[in-house]
Amino acid sequence: MATKSFFVTKNLPEKFFKNISKKFPMEMWPNSNEEIPRQKLLERVSGKTGLLCTLSDRIDRQLLDAAGPQLKCISTLSVGYDHIDIDECKRRGIVVGNTPDVLTDTVAELTIALLLATIRRLFEANQALRQGKWPAGWGHFFMCGSMIKGSHIGVIGGSGRIGRSVIKRLRSFEPAKISYTSRQEYPEMFREFNAEFYPLDRLLIESDIIIVCCSLNDSTRRLISTEQFKRMKSTSVIINTSRGSCIDQQALYEALKSRKIAAAGLDVYEQEPISMDDPLLSLDNVVLLPHIGSAAKSTREQMIQMALDNLEAGLEDRPLLASV
Ligand code: GLV
Repeated sequence: MATKSFFVTKNLPEKFFKNISKKFPMEMWPNSNEEIPRQKLLERVSGKTGLLCTLSDRIDRQLLDAAGPQLKCISTLSVGYDHIDIDECKRRGIVVGNTPDVLTDTVAELTIALLLATIRRLFEANQALRQGKWPAGWGHFFMCGSMIKGSHIGVIGGSGRIGRSVIKRLRSFEPAKISYTSRQEYPEMFREFNAEFYPLDRLLIESDIIIVCCSLNDSTRRLISTEQFKRMKSTSVIINTSRGSCIDQQALYEALKSRKIAAAGLDVYEQEPISMDDPLLSLDNVVLLPHIGSAAKSTREQMIQMALDNLEAGLEDRPLLASV
């Protein structure tokens, strides 16, 4: 039987590979500054039994064909797996692992940070100070924003791991109300967090702060578009730390520009990295972060370890720690 081997699409610290590389021959994309070009990925995955990838690698039929029928395990260094054709992997008997739990609280913290930065205008205020625009004396309404306390927060996908972690943290800010959407109602969401299950339209109409925490799939792609922005309050703020494609980005731009909604805080985009020509960059009522939700060093290290444990289990025909 041919030796099982694997390919890693990102340049990751060697220390994590000490054990697994003793068991299985490995190859890694060596360039830490440059993403692996598609053609190179198709070449390098050929003949491998395992693949460690990230959310920027598109794992579709073309890639699976290029890899060959011996490919048995794909381990993604992310909790999200919308970049992977899961149905096709299942059809081919390929197991897919991801990294839930280890990043839940990290993303929740970033979501709160982004929310506060957006509603209290932290980046604008920082910029104004640096540009010498701090008004002399006391500008009574200078850089005024809004508060979490007393507001209605609607969390789209609020019953998921990250949604719950966000809601748990938000409660200490004393909002007037928390509502959530989900595929179904979870009675413990009310018992534990006093969070009410709402249909999407009602949540959009009534919320002051809307937080997108749902995963991306066919039912959530462009879930928020022009019609949905029309329903929202003109004072409302939307935060997205899940996937950019849950929001129609052009419609968001128009809603922000025309002040149909007040502001947005984004960590994720339809195209990543966002183009430097994107019109969102011309607006001052949007806070833009470069997809750093899970970017705490300890979390990123735990993600590598978990992805490798998944890969090793897959290569050894054992159940993965977390599979899709
Ligand atoms: C990050 O977005 C992830 O899915 O882990």
